[in-house]
Amino acid sequence: MTAVALLFGSPAAQAKDLSGQLEIFSWWAGDEGPALQALIDLYTKQNPGVEVVNATVTGGSGVNAKAVLKTRMLGGEPPDSFQVHAGQELIGTWVKADRMEDLTFLFKEQGWMDVFPEGLVKNIGTDTGIWSVPVNIHRSNVVWYVPANLEKWGIKVPTTWDEFFAAAEILKAKNVVPLVLAQNWTANHLWESVALASLGADNWDALWAGKLAFDSPEGVKAWELFGKVLEYTNKDASSLSWQQATDMVVDGRAAFNVMGDWAAGYMATTKKLKPGSGFGWSASFGTGGQFMFLADSFGLPKGAPNRDNVIAWLSTLGSKEGSDAFNPLKGSISARTDSDLSKYNEYAKSASADFGKDRIVGSLAHGVTANEGFMNDFASVMEMFLKSRNAEATAKAAQQVAMKNGIGK
Ligand code: GAL
Repeated sequence: MTAVALLFGSPAAQAKDLSGQLEIFSWWAGDEGPALQALIDLYTKQNPGVEVVNATVTGGSGVNAKAVLKTRMLGGEPPDSFQVHAGQELIGTWVKADRMEDLTFLFKEQGWMDVFPEGLVKNIGTDTGIWSVPVNIHRSNVVWYVPANLEKWGIKVPTTWDEFFAAAEILKAKNVVPLVLAQNWTANHLWESVALASLGADNWDALWAGKLAFDSPEGVKAWELFGKVLEYTNKDASSLSWQQATDMVVDGRAAFNVMGDWAAGYMATTKKLKPGSGFGWSASFGTGGQFMFLADSFGLPKGAPNRDNVIAWLSTLGSKEGSDAFNPLKGSISARTDSDLSKYNEYAKSASADFGKDRIVGSLAHGVTANEGFMNDFASVMEMFLKSRNAEATAKAAQQVAMKNGIGK
């Protein structure tokens, strides 16, 4: 350490000459990789002695990665740090099982209590600690389209599902898929936007607080609307990745796609499309003024082989510089309240403005509202609906799953 650093102190990331490895585990592979790579590059610049092992398991929303992570954690071989969603995916799973280290000391040391929104800290904390460092805020309830294509087809961007159904008839007649869907987890993703539109934010929150039953009339109605929406989706959904579904919108084979704003990252960073002209967006139908959020975060599992290197990694990813290197490429906005918006594109600027004024609710499909047990069981409930299209029976099954996993009352 230099004499100057000793006198005046220096950021934790540079406080020691670190060496050895740092294994970072995530599902940000391939197309999803550039933002993470920017963060790793910054870390490597700050810690040239550390060799970063970028361990990824492909699969949107972590469908495959989470299973591998579970095997490793239960087998006593945790990665140094892993991607986990803020909310119940972290708290109801790894924190509950006492597998994470408390990071309160780091939050205090880095001054993060003042820069991360209080509501977000609640999603990564309990009475006994703070358990991860958020790297972003993603929005789940967004619909994507190509403005020039809509114009060509004579379609205006719908603001409600009823307007969408009217537009969808026109699109069908032109052999365009009205709403493209991909593999199974994207059905959950679509469901949460449809359910939010159908229930409204208060009832959405009430579901997860156990104050509104999944099989209440409101709950059943959400499944009915979802069933109608599915009639306008593609038949080959289960064979498509979320990127391939996005490609269908970009290519003009489909008109709309409800997807989180990692799709903005994919279209702007990977496909080099210009936000606003190359692709357009709005809140998913019927959810204007509501921001369904999720946050990716990283933590320090107990028994991490390279603890000091992880602390430096968390310091980098929670810093302003780290966050503003990562998020402009990822499609998300910074979780910090002091981020430099001049580094962000038009989409992110609009997401940031919405985050500041909209009603915020948590995402189910990406870990905020429900624990892993519920998520696993809900996947079966969804499969049942995709086959049966029986709203009443599915709502009942969802309520049973909620009761079993400590949500429903
Ligand atoms: C989400 C994750 C995003 C993005 C997306 C698609 O669960 O929070 O960062 O990776 O999955 O894979």
